[in-house]
Amino acid sequence: MIIIQAKDYDEMSRKAALFIAGQVLLKPTSVLGLATGSTPVGTYKELIRFHKEDGVCFQQVRSVNLDEYYGLPASHEQSYRHFMQVNLFDHIDILPGNTHVPDGLTRDPQAYGKEYDEMIASLGGIDLQLLGIGSNGHIAFNEPGRYFTAPTRLVDLNKNTIGDNARFFESEDEVPRQAISMGMKSILGAKRILILASSANKAEAVRDMLEGPIDPMVPASILQLHPNVTLVADYAALSLIS
Ligand code: PGA
Repeated sequence: MIIIQAKDYDEMSRKAALFIAGQVLLKPTSVLGLATGSTPVGTYKELIRFHKEDGVCFQQVRSVNLDEYYGLPASHEQSYRHFMQVNLFDHIDILPGNTHVPDGLTRDPQAYGKEYDEMIASLGGIDLQLLGIGSNGHIAFNEPGRYFTAPTRLVDLNKNTIGDNARFFESEDEVPRQAISMGMKSILGAKRILILASSANKAEAVRDMLEGPIDPMVPASILQLHPNVTLVADYAALSLIS
């Protein structure tokens, strides 16, 4: 794994955006795997700037998102579809039909998960997958557990994640308890992975991902097996690595 250090969130965001813009410049038809949460917001802002000021073009890019809360319609202001529109898609020239975010209202999550993975495969797989990391070591909503799960599927969010994400809702009670999450197979199938981490509350997860054993209790640790992973992290998130 290549580690790129940044002094703070803003520098992490700039470096991450450069990395993604480079991917799009080298391959304008890239399939980008995209993430939500607080971490990539600054990266998306920089990408919007690259688009508006430097002409980086997303017209041929296809995107697939990692996850969506189960039970939230796309129009809900905490849905990840809404997040992507507001934080990125509405401000760049990506074609709406080329963006894919899991459907949080699917009636048949099992069949839907299979279709989502097949859709990713039909695009030729993911060229660059952007990831955040949960404070519990999760990637997408693949929570710590007894085994690594391969397919895109319906998952139960763990207590830690519900607590972490309560800041986006009126109260913890309103945080959905389930989500559709891309599984490890499609994530690890990405040709390149860019994982971001910022702030001290990610330091333990970052240490365990990099230096711990490969353990489904730290889902991100499976990235040790991927041949092309770059971590861009600020000093605070890197503070516990040896
Ligand atoms: P955050 O979430 O960016 O909001 O910290 C990261 C994640 O849970 O993957």
